[in-house]
Amino acid sequence: MAMFELHGRTALITGAGQGMGTGVAEVLAAQGAHVLVNDLDGSRADAVVGQLRDNGHSAEAMIFDVTDLEAVRRAIAERPIDILVNNAGNGGAETMQPRKFVDTDPGEWEGPLAVNLGGVMNCTHTVLPGMVARGWGRVIGVVSGAGTQGVHIGVAAYSAGKAGAAGLLRSVALEVARKGVTVNSIALGLMSNTGGSDITAGLAKTIPTGRLGTPHDLGALCAYLASDEASWMTAQTIPLAGGSITS
Ligand SMILES: NC(=O)c1ccc[n+]([C@@H]2O[C@H](COP(=O)([O-])OP(=O)(O)OC[C@H]3O[C@@H](n4cnc5c(N)ncnc54)[C@H](O)[C@@H]3O)[C@@H](O)[C@H]2O)c1
Repeated sequence: MAMFELHGRTALITGAGQGMGTGVAEVLAAQGAHVLVNDLDGSRADAVVGQLRDNGHSAEAMIFDVTDLEAVRRAIAERPIDILVNNAGNGGAETMQPRKFVDTDPGEWEGPLAVNLGGVMNCTHTVLPGMVARGWGRVIGVVSGAGTQGVHIGVAAYSAGKAGAAGLLRSVALEVARKGVTVNSIALGLMSNTGGSDITAGLAKTIPTGRLGTPHDLGALCAYLASDEASWMTAQTIPLAGGSITS
């Protein structure tokens, strides 16, 4: 019996122009979903869509900034979206600038909160009414171990954004639990694009399984959470971290 089939479903993956989001788009498309590849960088999104179509999958690009509520609404309020993967994050359009919290300027807090929490609020708030009206939906947040436990790597505002997103989605999950809509988050550990290839080997040694996570590791868990079979899994923050986060 085939499981985790997504034929007939439309899935929006934010920040899918590179990295983890691209892997999620590839896996959900391979399971049969029509994939909406969002990114604020249009050329990245177009390249991913081209690659998915070359592989026989159904995909289209959706260029907007998740932190801009009006842009989110213009792009997707009228679209029937069955699966939302809130993946856009990290430093947003900026690269992450690791620094101790006391050494940060208050002006540096808004960016990490806007993309990692505000973007999740904007997209989830926009798609949820349609999911509830149709009686079926899946919302997934891509969060981080940095939001579920303390990390000593100079990313406190990012941690706050990720913890905020996980908390938001647990409460939203309970509001829609009777409506056929599940809402979960995935707390990622160190992934294969963390820190550049020069330090990847060193980082891998710190992980119990001995390797960093891949975009397809994330995609596989998203495929499960997005499936009909996962209808009893909701309001969870699930670690996906090669054993480096225990629960
Ligand atoms: N890579 C890791 O080690 C790791 C670890 C834990 C959690 N995460 C989380 O996983 C998610 C994906 O991480 P990644 O490393 O693949 O990210 P990445 O930075 O490599 O790619 C993110 C993509 O999102 C796009 N983007 C950024 N801001 C956007 C916005 N406001 N609107 C639309 N698109 C936007 C970027 O253009 C980029 O293409 C993020 O939420 C990140 O915080 C990653």
